[in-house]
Amino acid sequence: MRRKVTVIGCGNVGATVAMRLAEKELADVVLIDILENVPAGKALDLSEAAPIEKHDCKITGVSNDYSEAKDSDIVIITAGIPRKPGMSRDDLLSTNMVIMKSVVEKIALVAPNTILIIVSNPLDAMCHVAYEVSKFPKKKILGMAGVLDSARFRTFIAMELNVSIENTHAFVLGGHGDSMVPLPRYSTVAGIPITELMPSERIEALVERTRNGGAEIVGLLKTGSAYYAPASAAVEMAEAILKDKKKILPCAAYLEGEYGIKNLFMGVPVKLGAKGIEEIIEIELSPDEERSLRGSADAVQQLVNDLNRLKM
Ligand code: LAC
Repeated sequence: MRRKVTVIGCGNVGATVAMRLAEKELADVVLIDILENVPAGKALDLSEAAPIEKHDCKITGVSNDYSEAKDSDIVIITAGIPRKPGMSRDDLLSTNMVIMKSVVEKIALVAPNTILIIVSNPLDAMCHVAYEVSKFPKKKILGMAGVLDSARFRTFIAMELNVSIENTHAFVLGGHGDSMVPLPRYSTVAGIPITELMPSERIEALVERTRNGGAEIVGLLKTGSAYYAPASAAVEMAEAILKDKKKILPCAAYLEGEYGIKNLFMGVPVKLGAKGIEEIIEIELSPDEERSLRGSADAVQQLVNDLNRLKM
């Protein structure tokens, strides 16, 4: 039997996730959205590409019928409003909190054993909502941010040094916001730290571009935020789980003391396998890096406090 992944929200991110999942033949896909007919239309369109793309995955699209999500191995939640130019991810908090709550309540009823990959923004805060509402074990809730932010850092490193993207590796920790923490020391080209390959002011420029990576795309698109790279990142996480790869990827995970941070979702390296987050990997940080991570944790904590206020 093929595996099953449900994607909530069939906007640009959700539809691209569905396309990549099917084209990689990772799972049958169910697309759910509140819009009438649109999920069915996108699912049919994607299905009609299958003879050419050569896959046999079944793609179904439904409006609000959560019974279709039953027995999903993974549910990827992309529902919510995206940013417009001038908005920060945090400006989406109150609207997306209500959407996330209602989606997760329904998913927890029909797919109580599933693993949730959260994509909606503000990412770390939305993971909190999903965790509180679902009451799922923490290993089954993870947020997509670090894979995207690291991919952006890798892209800029490869452009700067004119090397294959395949030679690059990058680590970005912290929240998915302006305070994210790219780690140049642990970012390499063919195993060589970039700190040995570029002057520090160029590294700082790439770090800054990575921090603003989402806003750079919003500024160009004007009508919404990035979706090709966010979709690729979510699918890489899903693939690691579906194939039990034990792959180490930076993901938002619920921390209970790791990195000195408690009761907060933050981007850290985790081992992803069939059970979800199978291990949180703690790496040695310099005092500067630790300070940056603490600053990022404070920013996420602020959002969680705002969430709690909104709920009152
Ligand atoms: C970005 C959004 C998806 O970083 O958070 O592009």
